[in-house]
Amino acid sequence: MNKVIVTGGAGFIGSHICKTLLKRGDFVVCIDNFDDYYDPKIKENNVSGLIKNPSFKLYRKDITNYQDMEDIFHEENPEKIIHMAARAGVRFSIEKPLLYEKVNIKGTLNLLELSVKYKIKSFIFASSSSVYGERKDVPFKETDKIDNPISPYAATKKAAELLSYTYHHLHNLNITCLRFFTVYGPSGRPDMATHKFITSILNEKPIDMYGDGTSIRDYTYVADIVNGIISALDKNLGYEIINLGGSNPIELKNFISTMEKVIGKKAIINKMSLQAGDVTKTYADIDKAKRLLGWIPKTSLEEGLRKTFEYIATNKDQK
Ligand SMILES: NC(=O)c1ccc[n+]([C@@H]2O[C@H](COP(=O)([O-])OP(=O)(O)OC[C@H]3O[C@@H](n4cnc5c(N)ncnc54)[C@H](O)[C@@H]3O)[C@@H](O)[C@H]2O)c1
Repeated sequence: MNKVIVTGGAGFIGSHICKTLLKRGDFVVCIDNFDDYYDPKIKENNVSGLIKNPSFKLYRKDITNYQDMEDIFHEENPEKIIHMAARAGVRFSIEKPLLYEKVNIKGTLNLLELSVKYKIKSFIFASSSSVYGERKDVPFKETDKIDNPISPYAATKKAAELLSYTYHHLHNLNITCLRFFTVYGPSGRPDMATHKFITSILNEKPIDMYGDGTSIRDYTYVADIVNGIISALDKNLGYEIINLGGSNPIELKNFISTMEKVIGKKAIINKMSLQAGDVTKTYADIDKAKRLLGWIPKTSLEEGLRKTFEYIATNKDQK
């Protein structure tokens, strides 16, 4: 049994991680401030089934408050940390860059500093495909030069990767930065296209399609992402950056038609111009994940969308 801190553990990916860790017998210390980026009721719902578990402890605290974080580390003496807490939307980061800097950079630095002080064995950082920026060459490899992030969100994720390296170099901390590629699944973020499109198609409302439908995304089902995170948590790799992506990119218009097939209804499409900050293409090279983590994404897009649709259709909070 490990004692693992999961920051952002009430959020979409974080709550799936907590469930999986509890199932395999770990003790989970969840830290989340239930911020209002989207309806906090969804996060309350995410943890409602976990709080009765004696191996789960919830702290409603903010990672940007160093003293609060120190109090938790002191009280819990954790062995490992999965750092998911962040301001996560690309578009909102253009409106609130200072907030993104505070949470995504200062918050991460607080946790790195405490990880050294409390001798954490393994630190997983949730990075993002957005660090690759706008580029022609695909698939995206971890060795690609990533000096041109096109949103404050992407820049904060790259900054946190750099700080992670510094902490590994100076203090020998085991840190794996996992670059996630568009994660979707049950209890997914309501600001993301998958969730927005499914609810709108289901309720026969128009969906906003940005661009001409040829933008490309590499979607990754949440259970696959969680498997990759836990494989990385169980290994001490020194410092590594690893892509976790479906490696099966699809054009937006085909993504919408797959959804129509799964839901059994036609989408009403409202064409919009491309949004600032959004890249036109993502596509993960996952050779490194295969090699270092033995990781292969198992869920096809159609199967993953079906599970997500079924969850939304049977959960009234989601609609
Ligand atoms: N979902 C994706 O497609 C995707 C892709 C790439 C990277 N990521 C990264 O994965 C992580 C999880 O993403 P998600 O989609 O589950 O998002 P999410 O917003 O559902 O989860 C983030 C959680 O962090 C919490 N949080 C935010 N600020 C906090 C603070 N100051 N202190 C404590 N808790 C705080 C939020 O309340 C939320 O519950 C994030 O770091 C995100 O940047 C996600």
